[in-house]
Amino acid sequence: MEVVIVPDARAGGELIADAIAVLLRQKPDALLGVATGSTPLPIYQALAARVSDGAVDASRARICQLDEYVGLPPGHPESYRSVVLREVVEPLGLPASSFMGPDGSAEDVQAACEAYDAALGAAGGVDLQLLGIGTDGHIGFNEPCSSLASRTRIKTLTEQTRRDNARFFDSVDEVPHHVITQGIGTILDARHLVLLATGEGKAQAVADTVEGPVASVVPASALQLHPHATVVVDEAAASKLRLAPYFRNTYATKPEWQGL
Ligand code: F6R
Repeated sequence: MEVVIVPDARAGGELIADAIAVLLRQKPDALLGVATGSTPLPIYQALAARVSDGAVDASRARICQLDEYVGLPPGHPESYRSVVLREVVEPLGLPASSFMGPDGSAEDVQAACEAYDAALGAAGGVDLQLLGIGTDGHIGFNEPCSSLASRTRIKTLTEQTRRDNARFFDSVDEVPHHVITQGIGTILDARHLVLLATGEGKAQAVADTVEGPVASVVPASALQLHPHATVVVDEAAASKLRLAPYFRNTYATKPEWQGL
């Protein structure tokens, strides 16, 4: 995988928005997989700014969700559908029809998971999947010890992830216990994986992902199996990387035409 160390979250957002801009120039109807949470917001803001100043035409882009809470009432402001509509689809000026996600309120959750996995394939596959990382190394909501071959399915959140996400709700008791998440195998099907991690709280998970063995106890380490995975980290999130000087040198000497 390629590791890019940037000064701060804003720089990470700008760099990844540029990579998305290049993709949309090459493939205007690219399917862009989006993550929720705090980390990717600078990407969405940087991309929306490029669209509003006319530097990027995202009018044919398609957006798909990585995961979703199970059991929140439809339209709940913290359902990931609502978040993606608010933070990505609307700022990019896209119609709701350009967006797909799993149905977290389905009566038959298993069928909804299978239908979503199949729909991603039928849509031609994800061109670029944005990822955050949990403090426990999760990607999507594939918590530690998720099968590296898993497909979209229902998962139980760890108490740590529920506490981490309580800031979006009035209390931790309101954070659902269950989620639908693209599986690790599903995520690995995307053509390009781009993980952004910022802040010291992610430093250990980043070091385990990049420099540790591939192991389901650190789900993000599965990125090592992907032929085109990019990990963008700020200085704080890079602080436990033994190979940080090597990554800096590799990126600094990379031919510009290679892109991310
Ligand atoms: C959410 C998701 C999660 C988050 C992770 C980090 O769609 O995919 O894996 O990326 O929990 O969340 P933040 O960015 O809020 O620290």
